[in-house]
Amino acid sequence: MTAGIDDIAIYIPRLYIDAADFAEARGLDPVKLQKGLGVSQMAIVDANQDPACLAANACLRVMEKNNLDPQDIGRLYISTESAFDESKAMNSYVIGMLEQVYGQGSFEHCGGVETKFACVSGSYALYDNTNWIRAGEAEGKSALVVVSDIAKYDMGSSGEMTQGAGAVVMLLNDKPRLLEFDPKVTSTSIKDEYDFYRPFGKETPIVHGQYSNLLYMIQVRKALESYKKKVISSNLIQMKEGETILDHMDYINMHLPYSNMGKKALAYLVRHEWRQLPRWKNILEQIGMKEPVPKDPRGTIESVLADEEFMAKDHEFTKLFTKTQEYQDVFESKLSSSLIASTMIGNLYTASLYLGFRSSLEFEYQKGVDLDGKRIGFGSYGSGSSAMVFSGVVQPEYAEIVKSMNLESEIGQRRRLTWSEYEELHENKLAPEQSKVHTKKEFVLVDIKTDVESRGERRYAFTS
Ligand code: HMG
Repeated sequence: MTAGIDDIAIYIPRLYIDAADFAEARGLDPVKLQKGLGVSQMAIVDANQDPACLAANACLRVMEKNNLDPQDIGRLYISTESAFDESKAMNSYVIGMLEQVYGQGSFEHCGGVETKFACVSGSYALYDNTNWIRAGEAEGKSALVVVSDIAKYDMGSSGEMTQGAGAVVMLLNDKPRLLEFDPKVTSTSIKDEYDFYRPFGKETPIVHGQYSNLLYMIQVRKALESYKKKVISSNLIQMKEGETILDHMDYINMHLPYSNMGKKALAYLVRHEWRQLPRWKNILEQIGMKEPVPKDPRGTIESVLADEEFMAKDHEFTKLFTKTQEYQDVFESKLSSSLIASTMIGNLYTASLYLGFRSSLEFEYQKGVDLDGKRIGFGSYGSGSSAMVFSGVVQPEYAEIVKSMNLESEIGQRRRLTWSEYEELHENKLAPEQSKVHTKKEFVLVDIKTDVESRGERRYAFTS
């Protein structure tokens, strides 16, 4: 049985901090954010929003758009790393909110859990639900897989310039109009690491930024190696002499903690793939320098990062490589459209990869590209750490969905925060009723109880 993504919806908070304002307040060059990281605006949650209401708002959008009844949904999974309860799963809050609209008990039949593995958990949830459908367990029902997060870093930390917030929901079923997942090729890598983690009780993560950048690329590359083997052994793709697996992906969507991380990761993967092919000779001639190797080629990530001479040379080599026409063609045709939304919204942790997928569909369609039959490769990464590589093929009915995609109108009118407003929100100084904007027909947080017997209970309302 086939399975894949039938439709997709997003919910992005209406507040944002502009990169120029951020840079001014932090004494940074705005070009570092805008060009160095690819961050122009970062979405910030209002005082009456949490990751559960972002998720519920996204779910309502996909249900209303497709005229779905709760009986059409068999599973609702949420993947997040912004959990606010150690036991009660976030999907239960979302069901509670949706039942305010669809009626109490209307989702009673619908199972699901909250999944966690930093930014990669949404990909595991997609895979598990895809297999639920493939196994024939869905009995004609669809699954909702929601990825929802608030990417919030410590004030003044280097991660603070890579924040953002939002939710993406994917409607999965056995007759997907958007994308059918390729069977038996999904591949993972996993390693016990501390590149980025958030211990109990801490609202923001502990991050080793440059370490995390390198680990992301290494882990995704390992998952790609395993994907390659599966693709060949399952005969999904027949590779000819001198080709790489990336030649067979029309689009490549990467996890985007900031949009330039996608660029960096693509360059890393392409470089490692091309290095083994005849075309590399020509690339090296254009670059005009030898490919650098670390002093200790079998060393650790720490030893590579500490090898300053290698790091500087490798940076130079990468910059020259990314300027070659051959790499530019790959970047422009396979990745660039997926980065547009990330630049406008920022990091969405679990949702970043799927916001990129959504962005790629909209902006490639607008270019006039016929997407029917195109293969999309996904490079998913979660700190801590695990990577997943998988792929799918765009379905003939895709235009039915993609023609009405409009990122700007789906985000809605946004409000640019002043620096002091941003600080107030970041430091959680405002109560829900002090929210900056009043939205209509959206789920909002009303109250979090503080008394001993019901501490942590959350109340939500659907605004009229
Ligand atoms: P940093 O170390 O301050 O920045 O923070 P940098 O010095 O690396 O500069 C960034 C880029 O800007 C560089 O470009 C600079 O050259 C350039 P690159 O060399 O990479 O091409 N630059 C400038 N460009 C123009 N004009 C200028 C200028 N100055 C510098 N004046 C870092 C960057 C990403 C480390 C930091 O923001 C951070 O720690 N972020 C959080 C961690 C993160 O996002 N890691 C990404 C990989 S791990 C991951 O994706 C998992 C994650 O999503 C969590 C999860 O899984 O749950 C984070």
